[in-house]
Amino acid sequence: MKLVLLGAPGAGKGTQASSLAEFLHVPHISTGDIFRKNLRNETPLGMKAKSYMDQGLLVPDELTVDLVMDRLSEEDCQNGYILDGFPRTLAQADALSQKEKLDAAVNIHVPDEVIVERMGGRRVCPSCGESYHVQYNPPKQEGICDKCGAELITRADDVPETVQKRLTVYHDQTAPLIDYYDQKGLLVTVDGTMAPKDVTGAIVKAIQE
Ligand code: AP5
Ligand code: MG
Repeated sequence: MKLVLLGAPGAGKGTQASSLAEFLHVPHISTGDIFRKNLRNETPLGMKAKSYMDQGLLVPDELTVDLVMDRLSEEDCQNGYILDGFPRTLAQADALSQKEKLDAAVNIHVPDEVIVERMGGRRVCPSCGESYHVQYNPPKQEGICDKCGAELITRADDVPETVQKRLTVYHDQTAPLIDYYDQKGLLVTVDGTMAPKDVTGAIVKAIQE
């Protein structure tokens, strides 16, 4: 199953991609996680991406598209994948559609006011990328990742001003992809305000219909 997850920052793309990847036995590919890993390792790509990410802006398409296409050509993606955070512009979506035949684009819909509240309580694992929330989705042991045991951190771009900027960028540049995939007959929309496991259930039901 080849899936794209669409949704505003904080809509739950990472949370759902992680559950769906386990359920469908396909890799979870998050461009945000790839950039953050490069940043931690101080690679040339990480250094280029940093200034955009810190401001809540999109990393240029020319840096992003090749990176994802290379990843999708790897062996583990041949039976499917969950793309989380890509595509985010019409140019990225066109580049993807030239190489790949998707099964569905899942739009996780969450109103902006809910997003702002979620971001304040988010904690992430710097090692495996797993997302938690202090109230809505806490780890079993406070401050520690359930999956890999690393110490959880707050993401640098989760400060309120950057969250607002990311929301504006989402509405301007990424939201048009909802119509793009609707016109291709691939769009599935789910209510992302339900509890995480109910959102997963709604996605699984929708993609199996
Ligand atoms: P990226 O890492 O993709 O960030 P984003 O799109 O802003 O999305 P988030 O990761 O913030 O949110 P999410 O939807 O994954 O939500 P999560 O599951 O964590 O991108 C970061 C940056 O990298 C971009 O700004 C850009 O600079 C760059 N970049 C990345 N991809 C790019 C691309 N393709 N092109 C150009 N630039 C790119 O959930 C959020 C919180 O809510 C968590 O605390 C979670 O526990 C909680 N939560 C989740 N679901 C629920 C629920 N159902 N109920 C209650 N709480 C919930
Ligand atoms: Mg994410």
